[in-house]
Amino acid sequence: MTTDMELLKLARTAASHAYAPYSKFSVGSAIRMSDGTIYSGCNVENASYGLTICAERNGITTMIAKTDAPEQRVIDTVAIVSPNATRCWPCGACLQVLREFHCRRVIVEDPAGQPTTVLFDDLLPYSFGPEHIA
Ligand code: THU
Repeated sequence: MTTDMELLKLARTAASHAYAPYSKFSVGSAIRMSDGTIYSGCNVENASYGLTICAERNGITTMIAKTDAPEQRVIDTVAIVSPNATRCWPCGACLQVLREFHCRRVIVEDPAGQPTTVLFDDLLPYSFGPEHIA
């Protein structure tokens, strides 16, 4: 199983692929599924600004494209890295999309390059989810 440090490294590599000519704020994500599979993503900006997709949601769309069974779509941990800032926490939109796929833990990089780990429910408590419209 990939370690947290390895996951941060994969997120760092993903950030190097970012398309962020407007903000110049590159972000990378590495998503470890409950079965150990890893997907990664980077932010992709757009001249219209509002069409920007964050690194976390980009990684999730890749994960969905590569899987079909619900049990393959259970996120254990997402690691997020930005070379431009320390502790790059996921935005509110990404939290909601991570929530859809059961995300359990979030890791961000601290100023020393080490993982800061929090439980997802501490970032988004009392959240809305698919079970509420079932
Ligand atoms: N961004 C992400 O990709 N993930 C985050 O968690 C925070 C923000 C991106 C969106 C935009 O391209 C840039 O960072 C500046 O907001």
